[in-house]
Amino acid sequence: MAEVYLGTHLTLDRAVAVKVMHNYVESDPDLQSRFEREAKTVAGLRHPNIVQIFDYDTAEGHPYIVMEYLVGPSLATYLRELHSHDKRLQPKQIARLLITIATALDYAHEQGVIHRDVKPGNIILHNKATNISTQEPITERTDAVLTDFGLVRIAQAVTQTASGSVSGTPAYMSPEQAQGLKVDHRSDIYSLGVILYEMVAGRIPFEADTSWTLIFKHINEPPPPISGIQPSVQIVIDRALAKKPEDRYQTARALAADYMDAIGMFAEANTLRMSLPPSPLSRPALAPKNANPSSVPAWIPTASFVLLGLILVALAAIAIPQFVRYRQAAVDAQMKSDLRNAAVAMESYFANRMVYPASVAEIAGFGFQPTPGISLTLVNLSQSAYSLTAATPGGTQASFVYDNTTGSMH
Ligand SMILES: Nc1ncnc2c1ncn2[C@@H]1O[C@H](COP(=O)(O)OP(=O)(O)OP(=O)(O)O)[C@@H](O)[C@H]1O
Ligand SMILES: [Mg+2]
Repeated sequence: MAEVYLGTHLTLDRAVAVKVMHNYVESDPDLQSRFEREAKTVAGLRHPNIVQIFDYDTAEGHPYIVMEYLVGPSLATYLRELHSHDKRLQPKQIARLLITIATALDYAHEQGVIHRDVKPGNIILHNKATNISTQEPITERTDAVLTDFGLVRIAQAVTQTASGSVSGTPAYMSPEQAQGLKVDHRSDIYSLGVILYEMVAGRIPFEADTSWTLIFKHINEPPPPISGIQPSVQIVIDRALAKKPEDRYQTARALAADYMDAIGMFAEANTLRMSLPPSPLSRPALAPKNANPSSVPAWIPTASFVLLGLILVALAAIAIPQFVRYRQAAVDAQMKSDLRNAAVAMESYFANRMVYPASVAEIAGFGFQPTPGISLTLVNLSQSAYSLTAATPGGTQASFVYDNTTGSMH
């Protein structure tokens, strides 16, 4: 599809990477202008964890991009080497990589750019001070830089349309992308979830002999649970890999923050959360539009107030049930979040005391405070198993059962 060359920028006298696409776009003015439009958008992205594009053009009909040359292995090469020695990244190293990639992805999404091929092969590990070898551990000086942002997908569009295949890499592809449906930023969040799964488990969630079987599994099968991990981590992974985009994390940083909570990095998770848009619960209440009487022109005769009153009643009849539904959905989401956080706190408690607490009140010192109005009930099923039930005043409930000896949960 493409070749990447190490080049030299003659004026600046610096090393650059030049990616030359095999596709011939010159004969297709539509494709050529799409390529230029997309290139301009991607070249406008400025983020320390996104590869910087210096220039783009076509040469003999083939599009090419000139970009910052990053010294270091791709995350794919790094993980392959690590996993071949039966080693895994430490949870804190995973968190460090996750934050940088998540921040870069959210930034791009906020600019309206979707990557569409987030995978370890498109993440380069880069250390400004020294070269990174695959033998070295990930430290706080390691930067993860995203490459191949959107641009390449456009340049490849001609082949994809002709062959009827879908763009992206099947092992990391979201169900909606695999089905050729319209994708939004949440497709990238799914792919990030696959990378998280791979870093934690040492393997990707779905493997198959053919691309189509792999795609089928992404669309239809739940990701296999990872044995021996904390249930709180599994919950985060499962949400990132939800089949429906609306059931997933809506921002990449929310995924990274929940992962950090799950491994006990509470302070870092809170700091990251502070950069997130406000949650639905803290948003101001919805008010019916045009309900402000000052917008009513002064010349309307008294009788018109009756009509206005009727309109207001009608508007309220529409808005109030909507507001109640909206409010209930926000409370339900908070309840699920409390349940997840309580499970994380239970695991922290267990890690410290080697026994589960007798009541929810005892985990309050382990980074968890229940939201007023949401009740949580803990039942110790045995010394190593418990069930947690969260309930809202509206009567919605969710439960979580975990058995520490078998590692099973539902
Ligand atoms: N800016 C860059 N600086 C240094 N190396 C790069 C840069 N961009 C890509 N590479 C390296 O060039 C090689 C080829 O990259 P390329 O993007 O063509 O392949 P890929 O990511 O494996 O597959 P895909 O085409 O699906 O993205 C990879 O080893 C990649 O790490
Ligand atoms: Mg690539």
